[in-house]
Amino acid sequence: MAIERTFSMIKPDATRRNLTGAITKMLEEGGLRVVASKRVWMSRREAEGFYAVHKERPFFGELVESMSAGPTIVQVLEGENAISRNRELMGATNPAQAAEGTIRKAHALSIGENSVHGSDAPETAKEEIAYWFSETEIVG
Ligand code: PPS
Repeated sequence: MAIERTFSMIKPDATRRNLTGAITKMLEEGGLRVVASKRVWMSRREAEGFYAVHKERPFFGELVESMSAGPTIVQVLEGENAISRNRELMGATNPAQAAEGTIRKAHALSIGENSVHGSDAPETAKEEIAYWFSETEIVG
């Protein structure tokens, strides 16, 4: 099994409801280690840059709006197959389809306010980590 790093966010809908600890606990109990973490209130411009791949999608404006509406916890997670493990722990994008025991099943409000983000592949993990963290901020 490969030890990987992935990028994770606890989104504004979750920080607003004081779920930072509860969600981090689910990630840790799921086998992932937080090797970098900070609280940021992203600007619209930062949200647009981060989600640029989705800029043609109909929900882009709503996504940028909700991600810049309050604080986000940005994290780097490390562990065995961390990218796919984190996606399993998160559950489906739409909480109505998320499996029992997943973070989104437990906490997400809707497809737009779905509490967490996780990178979907090694290349995006690398890019997303570099978007928010310098190498010296990651302490394994
Ligand atoms: S994914 O994660 O790429 O497989 O999912 P996808 O369906 O492509 O969605 C990409 C991100 O857009 C968010 N999303 C939405 N936001 C607001 N409104 C609607 N309707 C909506 N549909 C999808 C979704 O939560 C994904 O966010 P991230 O942060 O990448 O998980």
